[in-house]
Amino acid sequence: MRTAVYSLRRRLLGWLLISTAVIGVLALMDTYREAVKTANVVSDRVLAGSALAIAERVVVAEDGTLQVDIPYVALEMLTSAAQDRVFYRVDGPPGAFITGYQTLPSLPEVAGQSTSFADAVFRGEPIRLAVLRRSASTGVNSVPFVVTVAETTIARRQLSQTILLHSALRLGLMIAGAALIVWVAVTFSLRPLYRLGDAIAERSPDDLHPIGERVPSEVQGLVDTVNSFMVRLQSALDALRHFTGNASHQLRTPLAIIRTQLALARRAATVDEALSAAAKADEAVANAERILAQLLLMAKIDAAAKEEARGSERIELARLARSITAEHVPAAGEVGIDLGFAGEGEQWIRAEPLLVGELLKNLIGNALLYAGRGAEVTVRVSGSDNEVALEVEDNGPGIRPELREAVLKRFRRGGTEAPGTGLGLPIVEEIAALYGGTMRLEDGEGGRGLKVVVTFPAG
Ligand SMILES: Nc1ncnc2c1ncn2[C@@H]1O[C@H](COP(=O)(O)OP(=O)(O)OP(=O)(O)O)[C@@H](O)[C@H]1O
Ligand SMILES: [Mg+2]
Repeated sequence: MRTAVYSLRRRLLGWLLISTAVIGVLALMDTYREAVKTANVVSDRVLAGSALAIAERVVVAEDGTLQVDIPYVALEMLTSAAQDRVFYRVDGPPGAFITGYQTLPSLPEVAGQSTSFADAVFRGEPIRLAVLRRSASTGVNSVPFVVTVAETTIARRQLSQTILLHSALRLGLMIAGAALIVWVAVTFSLRPLYRLGDAIAERSPDDLHPIGERVPSEVQGLVDTVNSFMVRLQSALDALRHFTGNASHQLRTPLAIIRTQLALARRAATVDEALSAAAKADEAVANAERILAQLLLMAKIDAAAKEEARGSERIELARLARSITAEHVPAAGEVGIDLGFAGEGEQWIRAEPLLVGELLKNLIGNALLYAGRGAEVTVRVSGSDNEVALEVEDNGPGIRPELREAVLKRFRRGGTEAPGTGLGLPIVEEIAALYGGTMRLEDGEGGRGLKVVVTFPAG
């Protein structure tokens, strides 16, 4: 099943936007805090200056009371900022209100600090308060007083909002710029991949040369994998071509013989000549049949190898081998060979009975063909703890040690005249391997003849 296609470019952009948005919001929050602080510091200084200007004008009158003449500039320096409104009050010794807005909140005294600031609400509006504590001297004693100056916070808020807005704008522009850069960079970076795709698309289907395009190092691994896959594919295709070539060559020989013998039969002068040609043609047909049977068997092995639950069947090998051996006894008698079975008890393996039967038929067939008249052939089944061995042993000429490796290759024969394809032993080995087994060629008893040993895991 194909999973949904996604765009690398969109993914990268998505990640970039999400991460910068998160970082951006955090940065903006910090900027806003900083902006409020800065605005407060600046404005507080003006507030304190204004309170100081008022305090300078506080004097002790002749009657000992405090008098203040509010200087216009003291408030002017505040009102110049935005539409903020300014309030003040001056108080004498505890409880003695002198002038200003009597309802304006003041602040309790903080030890060791002549000026203190606070946020408050006055007449439903947020305000910032500055409270200055001083004392006026009469020459004899000093009279404490408190100057409270407040202003609404419109200008401060405007200032911090402007700072925030500018920061947000800058950040937005930066994110947009980064997104553009990513878009362009991804487009450029992906170009080699498009070129690679084009180069592969332009190839002819049987061109399996390694890909030589220059690609980024991140993609090189993928290209290497594809290249090694192509090498394997090429060798598999070569093997297939080799196989079909060999197989058709094998079939052509008996067909040519049939054709020649049929022509001879047509031109035969006597019935005997015709009969002999027909017999030869018949033999060639039988040979072609054998070749086809071996080829079909190979195809069956391939199919079985692809099946998921292959050979999960439990079979009793001793009984199977005994009955197949028995089937071949008449044929063995015809060629003067003494064919026998040895083996006791039950030996269970997991395999496909038809394929294991074909395996044994090939081995017995070989022995009957190559061991020679008068030979003895023994089929043996024996078992150990976790292995079951199937042996076919004869005391014929055997296979010379230097040829033993060669005859395991497809279509390779041991230089015998008997008809055959050279597929038998490879088939035996492949069927054994299919069920986790092995095959090996050994000398027969006393160094004579051939013993083929096939082992299967006990099942
Ligand atoms: N029991 C044997 N004794 C002597 N030589 C053998 C024996 N079995 C096999 N060989 C040699 O090994 C070769 C390969 O055997 P294999 O069964 O693979 O092919 P084949 O018998 O020639 O053809 P096919 O079995 O496909 O018809 C044979 O050609 C033969 O020379
Ligand atoms: Mg054979």
